[in-house]
Amino acid sequence: MEQYSTKVMEHFAQPHNVGEIENADGVGTVGNPVCGDVMRLYIKVENDVIADAKFKTFGCGAAIATSSMVTDLVKGKTIDEALAISNQAVAEALGGLPKVKMHCSVLAEEALKSALDDYYKKKGIPSPVKVPETVGHEHEIG
Ligand code: FES
Repeated sequence: MEQYSTKVMEHFAQPHNVGEIENADGVGTVGNPVCGDVMRLYIKVENDVIADAKFKTFGCGAAIATSSMVTDLVKGKTIDEALAISNQAVAEALGGLPKVKMHCSVLAEEALKSALDDYYKKKGIPSPVKVPETVGHEHEIG
């Protein structure tokens, strides 16, 4: 069995940016229907730059670690730069993920895309974001 990297363990044990942002400029909630894990990501945008990002994840250790990493990665990035962040980039930043856990990083990318999509919608700008069909805003996290 493949092992988790030290970075994954660190972000799982002490995740960064946990919580929510009041009056967030974008909120994205995604779920994986197979494992049942749910991730919600909040972004605060100032002058086209992501000033803050927080998350709440009800999910496995890798989902928590990838949420933590993706929120770290987007802070200080422009919207366009954030849009280019892939699940591979998140997994790489964590020192890699076991193959069976790559879908957890996909959830992180989707949560980010969904939050960016919501940002465009809130601003009344046509969204260039392609959010996968399985993704919605309707999930609830307690
Ligand atoms: Fe599904 Fe990790 S097991 S997100």
